[in-house]
This record gives sequence, C-alpha cells and structure tokens, in this order.
Amino acid sequence: MEVLVTGGLGFIGSHTVVELLEDGYQVVVIDDLSNSSIDVVDKIKEITGKDFVFYQKNVCDLDALDMIFQKHSIQAVLHFAGYKAVGESVQKPILYYENNLLSTLHLCQKMLEYGCYKFIFSSSATVYGDPEVLPLTEKCKVGGTTNPYGTSKFMIEQILKDIHVSNPKFTPVILRYFNPIGAHPSGYLGEKPNGIPNNLMPYIVRVASGELEILSVFGDDYDTPDGTGVRDYIHVVDLAKGHLCALKKALGEDGVFVYNLGTGCGYSVLDLVHNFEKVNGVKVPYKIVDRRPGDIASCYADPSLALQELGWKAELGLEDMMRDSYRFILKQNEK
Ligand code: UFG
Repeated sequence: MEVLVTGGLGFIGSHTVVELLEDGYQVVVIDDLSNSSIDVVDKIKEITGKDFVFYQKNVCDLDALDMIFQKHSIQAVLHFAGYKAVGESVQKPILYYENNLLSTLHLCQKMLEYGCYKFIFSSSATVYGDPEVLPLTEKCKVGGTTNPYGTSKFMIEQILKDIHVSNPKFTPVILRYFNPIGAHPSGYLGEKPNGIPNNLMPYIVRVASGELEILSVFGDDYDTPDGTGVRDYIHVVDLAKGHLCALKKALGEDGVFVYNLGTGCGYSVLDLVHNFEKVNGVKVPYKIVDRRPGDIASCYADPSLALQELGWKAELGLEDMMRDSYRFILKQNEK
C-alpha cells in the first residue's frame, strides 16, 4: 500500500518513514528541505534496507501534489510538513498561517479529488493552551492558544472536522503530540534545528557537547515540585510508532479521531538536566533566569484513549531519550 508522507525528512517524519518501511508500506515523501537535510534520504535507506520515493517539493504546490497523486496510488496521507518555531510564528504570523493552512487545504483538496480519504495529522498539545486540569484528556477544552503556530494547529483541527462533515469518508486522525525528544537508536536520525535551539533538549545536548556554554533554565518559581517547568517528554520512536497505529485505525474505520500521544509522566527541566548528566556521564552547566513569556507551569497527557483505541503506549523511558539524543549529536559532530 502506498502512503504519502509530507515533511518525511524532518525530525518526526523521518522516524515515521522508518517505521512505515519496516512495516511493509510503500512510502512517497514530499519535503522541500526547508528544515531538513537531503542526507536523511540515505540514512533512512541505510537503517531500513528499503527504498522509497522522494520529491523535493513544497506541499503548498498544487501542481506538484497533482503530479504525485497522478503517479502514485496514494491510500493515506501523513502530514508532518509545517513551520513549527513558536517565537518565529509571533514575528511572522502571515507566513505561518499561509504555509501551515494552505499546505493542509491543498493536500485535502487533492486527496478528495483523487478519492484518498485517510489523513493522519501532526497536531500538538499546544491546542490545549494553559491547562485547566491535569492530566490532559482529549475532552479538555481547546483553544486559547498563545501564538500563531499553536493557533494554526487549532485551526487545522477544525478544518479537518469540517471536511469530514462535508464528506464522511474523509477520516482525519488528529494526533496531539506532547514534547517529542530522543533520536533513532542507530544515531543516524535526530533533531538538528538550524541556529540556536529554542527547545530544551536540543539546547541541553549542545551544552553537553561544548557547542553552547550554559543552559538557561527559564524560571524556578513555578508551582511544580522543584519550581521548574514540567512537561511530558516522549521518545520520537514511540511517537513514530503511534502514527502506524493511527494509520491502521484510519484504514479500518471512517470517522474523526483525536488522540494524545504522550507518556503520561511529567518531568521538570532539572529532572532532565540531572538525568542527562547521570546517563551520559557529562556535566550540563545551567543558570536560573527569568521565566520565558508564554510558558506554562505544567503540561502532561492522559494517554489512555490511545491505548484503548489504538493499542498504543509509549515504551521508552527518560533514560532512553537522554542517551539517544546525545548519541545522535555526538555522531553528527564526528563528521
Ligand atoms: N526551557 C528552558 N530552557 C531552554 C528551553 C526550554 O528552561 O533553553 C524550559 C521551558 O521553559 C519549558 C521546558 O523547558 O518549561 C520545555 O520547553 P520547550 O521549548 O522544549 O517545549 P515547550 O513545552 O515550550 O513547547 C513544545 C514545542 C511546541 C509545542 C508545545 C506543546 O516546542 O512546538 O511543546 O505543548 F507547541
């Protein structure tokens, strides 16, 4: 069965392509390399020993999409492509709304035109805004997003539900990711943001490897056990496996499905730092600085619906995430 993966060379997309190939799917990837590298194509082939088709195109490009749907018998789409830097989205809202919304609209338009109805969407826990209760279930209130990136995810969720109403065969599975970190255990695939990282894990690994001097911990006066922010970190390989389960669900049943993909465990910034130091035997110097505007104190999932309906749960723990994240950056730096 042929499936289309947009953003398939990115952090989460590439790990999902590996899982899809290993499960026997024929994979077509579209990625414009705006936040990914062409080397990932060979890395995926090396890990899996399998081939796939790659198009260097932007998902907003209707002609490119048309060519792909003409040429391939696409049965489902996994849509990862999108801009995702929270801070940049505040500076460039038009760019974020244009890219994230238009790519999704164009994809859905072409899917309906070619009779392809199964759509797996990368959403985010950010759609819950500042949580009223924890852990977050899929029934919790959504909206109240604080930046255009988050709002674009929230809007797309609604768009997908509206398309389903107009055509009940159109089956979106909306996956709300918590905080994906870690890397492929081979050390070949991982997260490599351009420039200075905004997110915690990419920053920690660069401090540990000596590329950056010191980690700034954004606030130690939150209402959390040690005062630093608490999040639900999930290993990217677990997350990728969640997509396979979601795909199987969509292929077996029509409807609209929404799942949290998290572990259900909350860890603080200092939990990560200390665990990273212990697992990898390196120091991560840090200093406490002011809170980062827009951050919330705590966010973690109730992932039980995904277990109940998809048979999926996260298997890897914090130590795996710390070890694999560091292995990837060391391997990158070997070059
Ligand atoms: N943090 C630091 N120092 C840093 C970076 C982060 O102390 O240099 C802290 C933050 O204050 C927060 C925690 O580490 O408490 C995690 O921050 P991240 O930036 O790694 O992740 P966020 O939870 O802020 O955001 C992530 C994704 C978003 C997504 C959101 C969903 O980056 O894309 O989760 O909840 F929308």
